[in-house]
Amino acid sequence: MSRQKIAAGNWKMNTSHSDGYFLAEAITKAKRPKDVQTIMAVPFTHLGAVQAHTYDKKNIAVAAQNFHHEEKGAYTGEISIGMLSSMHIPYALIGHSERREYQKESNKLLATKLDLALAHNIKPIFCCGEKLPIRKSKKHVSFVKKQLKEGLFHLSKSDIKRVVIAYEPVWAIGTGETASPEQAQEMHAAIRKMLADKYDQDVADSISILYGGSVKPANAKSLFGQPDVDGGLVGGASLDADGFVEIIHSF
Ligand code: PGA
Repeated sequence: MSRQKIAAGNWKMNTSHSDGYFLAEAITKAKRPKDVQTIMAVPFTHLGAVQAHTYDKKNIAVAAQNFHHEEKGAYTGEISIGMLSSMHIPYALIGHSERREYQKESNKLLATKLDLALAHNIKPIFCCGEKLPIRKSKKHVSFVKKQLKEGLFHLSKSDIKRVVIAYEPVWAIGTGETASPEQAQEMHAAIRKMLADKYDQDVADSISILYGGSVKPANAKSLFGQPDVDGGLVGGASLDADGFVEIIHSF
């Protein structure tokens, strides 16, 4: 079974509105391989402008970087999942390490957000990954297993198939340090085995698992060439249209 190849950009809190508009335009208009799904996870303020480029295109789409865990109510300054679905936003990141760290998002909270996204027909890109001390103590696989168990594994077999997983070792995010292709493959294969053990091989073989953490045009090919790496979640390098398009061509 062939899994969807995905190149997802995570703009984080970068770009002015007009810079974001032109960045999305350049990426949308660029020649891109048909069998790769390109995604741009952009700030809330940019969703409409970016979607104006992507809404009628087949293999490129916009994503939200977050949404609130309640459906509605007195949460000044927050954005609900219903607001996103009313804009027909197809994807949302859930549990990026920066939100786990700075907003103290727990696995339990992320499980709630996952349910909300699926109920509103928004495809979640569920992020997981360990910090450096955990990697150094060789507990990275069991740490990620706990994140998946508590955040993801309550889903039914049909719902889990609607999720994309992004493995992002925190020590490689924005640091210029990348997991080696072998390190990425080790964890991706371990995650796929967790999926097979919890669900079955069919589920495990159908879910795209992306690698994130200093993916660049120079290293994308060797990472995406690993058998269990189905693409990338790209931060810094997704802010440059030419570089990101090169990454999209790295499968
Ligand atoms: P980076 O970020 O590519 O800048 O390391 C990746 C991410 O946080 O998604």
